[in-house]
Amino acid sequence: MNQDDLKKQAAEAALDYVESGVIGVGTGSTVNHFIDALASVKHRIEGAVSSSEVSSERLKRHGIQVFDLNAVGELALYVDGADESNGQLELIKGGGGALTREKIVAAASRTFVCIADESKLVEVLGGFPLPVEVIPMARSYVARELVQLGGTPVWREGFVTDNGNLILDVQNLEITDPKGLEQRINTIAGVVTVGIFAWRPADVLILGSAQGPRTIK
Ligand code: A5P
Repeated sequence: MNQDDLKKQAAEAALDYVESGVIGVGTGSTVNHFIDALASVKHRIEGAVSSSEVSSERLKRHGIQVFDLNAVGELALYVDGADESNGQLELIKGGGGALTREKIVAAASRTFVCIADESKLVEVLGGFPLPVEVIPMARSYVARELVQLGGTPVWREGFVTDNGNLILDVQNLEITDPKGLEQRINTIAGVVTVGIFAWRPADVLILGSAQGPRTIK
């Protein structure tokens, strides 16, 4: 099984959590498999709130109605991928640049089911460069502040988020205190969101593996 097969396996296992109402749907290649699988059970739900324009388009192509988060109450379920997870289900997200909307939808959901292939489970977060969404005029200032924190920020040139902002990918961070670093980076002026999900971690992690889907809670 290749990595994509494992992503698909995790995505299909997440269908067990889909019950009714409006659900939250994230972004990325693993979530694309989830959206495709969701089409087969779309009669169970009213529709979805999506964390990106790309996912919204995919949902609509499958005939799944997309709602504005402001038009619905708390979501029972959010399904999204991750770039890394530690054993506490604290995550790095934002490889696809959708971290701000992902953090909002995760925060507004009762249960966050994270789907990934097993290579995403790590001891310590930070091997994957940490995405930080910044207001364009603050790019250089925020980069200097991130250097002070021990990181090496790299501007994701040519990429603009759905919110019209930029992404700095911060290399060389060993994130031993995810909550502390999430809070610290979020206090830098000009930062919109950091891609650490520690204050709102996943509740369930489904990992695709050669032995079948493995669930960590
Ligand atoms: C999107 O911004 C990300 O948070 C994705 O959820 C994350 O990058 C996982 O992507 P894949 O499912 O493509 O590995």
